[in-house]
Amino acid sequence: MLKKIKETANYILQQTQTEAKIGIILGTGLGGLVQEIDIKSTMDYDQIPNFPVSTVEGHHGRLIFGSLGGKEVVAMQGRFHYYEGYGMDQVTFPVRVFKMMGIDTLLVSNASGGLNPDFVVGDVMVIEDHINMFGTNPLIGKNMEELGPRFPDMSQAYSKKLIAKAFEISERNNVQLKRGVYVGTTGPTFETPAEYKMFRVLGADVVGMSTVPEVIVARHMDVTCFGVSIVTDSGVPGEIVEVSHEEVQIVAAKAEPTMTLVIKELVASL
Ligand code: HPA
Repeated sequence: MLKKIKETANYILQQTQTEAKIGIILGTGLGGLVQEIDIKSTMDYDQIPNFPVSTVEGHHGRLIFGSLGGKEVVAMQGRFHYYEGYGMDQVTFPVRVFKMMGIDTLLVSNASGGLNPDFVVGDVMVIEDHINMFGTNPLIGKNMEELGPRFPDMSQAYSKKLIAKAFEISERNNVQLKRGVYVGTTGPTFETPAEYKMFRVLGADVVGMSTVPEVIVARHMDVTCFGVSIVTDSGVPGEIVEVSHEEVQIVAAKAEPTMTLVIKELVASL
């Protein structure tokens, strides 16, 4: 595993000469950020040794190298979801490769169902913390000591400093951001009303099907993390209506300008 991670990182470094310290996972709602990146080069996932290949609609599957807000970045356009059938090691493989390439900060975005009754569809929430409800953990197995400790601390999974910066940015630009807890679950089913209620009772503000594995692996390697989530549908009792992947994409697209602004300014401030 470690050999594969190094092999892939070395290949990418050789091909691109990137010196990026910032990695971005362009989940749902951050597609528009691509237009803001001054792109130097791209690499399709299927060209990269050991990389899994993305299968989901609305995700392209390539790495983008370039600069954003004056900083060199590497961005994943399309991520690997557990529900696609990838193992946790595959879902998180690119994050480990990022670290080996010299990345020290990871920015992620995703779409989610709203559980907090104060949230409305279209809101953008800064992830303050998460709850892992995948029923597994990407760090299960022999610990790779070279990457991080057996029992990683998770007391500040999402950087307080970056969260504070995001709110400074939102105030300066007059855009509204919510804050709260993201619960990550496998999917691919959206939740039943009873499940939405359960996740609310457990202490979450939104529920989604990604991000938690990547952030766990990033924190294992002491990579600083920041996440934003677009509330694309409501799981609040009385407000639940039928939801589809298409609807999620449509709502997420509308929130793109806010997401793009926050991430761009955040990168510029790093
Ligand atoms: N549940 C889980 N994942 C999601 C949802 C949801 O309601 N909306 C977008 N991703």
